Amino acid sequence: SRTAVVIPAAGRGVRLGPGAPKALRALNGTPMLIHAVRAMAASRAVSLVVVVAPPDGAPEVKTLLDDHALPERTDFLVVPGGESRQESVRAGLDALPPGIDIVLVHDAARPLVPVDTVDGVIAAVRGGAPAVVPALPLADTVKQVEPAAAPGDAEPVVATPERARLRAVQTPQGFDRATLVRAHESVTDSVTDDASMVEQLGLPVVVVPGHEEAFKVTRPLDLLLAEAVLARRRA
Ligand code: C5P
Repeated sequence: SRTAVVIPAAGRGVRLGPGAPKALRALNGTPMLIHAVRAMAASRAVSLVVVVAPPDGAPEVKTLLDDHALPERTDFLVVPGGESRQESVRAGLDALPPGIDIVLVHDAARPLVPVDTVDGVIAAVRGGAPAVVPALPLADTVKQVEPAAAPGDAEPVVATPERARLRAVQTPQGFDRATLVRAHESVTDSVTDDASMVEQLGLPVVVVPGHEEAFKVTRPLDLLLAEAVLARRRA
C-alpha cells in the first residue's frame, strides 16, 4: 500500500499575533511548514507529501520547498487551498494520484510530531481501521458552557464531561483513502478535524497514542515551547 500526506497550510494564524501566515513563521530559523514536511517525510512509509498553500501563495510555497533539503525518496506537490481548513484538505485530496490508498492529514501547525507517532497512525490504518487519530489524555478539566445571555455577561456552565474519558486529538490523522474522500463528499457541516467527518458516516475511528511534542502551535507561548523542544533535540 502507498501512503500520502496532505498538509493544510493555508491558515492565516491570527491567534499567533500579527505577521506572516502561520505556516511560514520561523522556528529556530526554519519555517514551521518545513519542519512539518520533514516530520512527515521522516517516515519511510510516506511516498508523497501534498502541501496546501494559501489560495494565492502556491508559487511562494513551492519555492520554499525547493530551497530546503528534503528526502529524495519522497515526492512533493503544492496546491492552492481554500477559505476553510476543510476546503484546503479537499484541495489536497483532489491532487492525489492513483495508487495511493492511505492518506494522512497533518496540520502545518504541528511541526514537531515524532516519526514514531506518524508510523503508529499508518500501522493502524494498514491494520484495517478506516480512520485513526493520535490522542492524549487532558490535563485540564473541561466545562461545556452556553453562550452568554448578553455581550459582557458570564457564560453559564451547563456540564462537566468526565475528564478520564476525554482525549485531546492531534494530527496526523490517518485514513483509508476512499473513506476520507467519501467523508469529504458527503459531510457539509463545518468540522475542526477530519476524523469527525468519518464519525458522521457512522464508521469507527480508532485512537492511538499521541505525543506531547505533536502539540499545535496556536498562541505566542507555543512558539517559545516549540523552539525549546528544538533546542533540546539539538543538545
Ligand atoms: O486554525 P487551525 O490552527 O485549526 O489550523 C489548522 C491547520 O489548518 C493549519 O495548518 C492551517 O494552516 C490549516 N488551514 C488551512 N486552510 C484554512 C484554514 C486553516 O489549510 N483556510
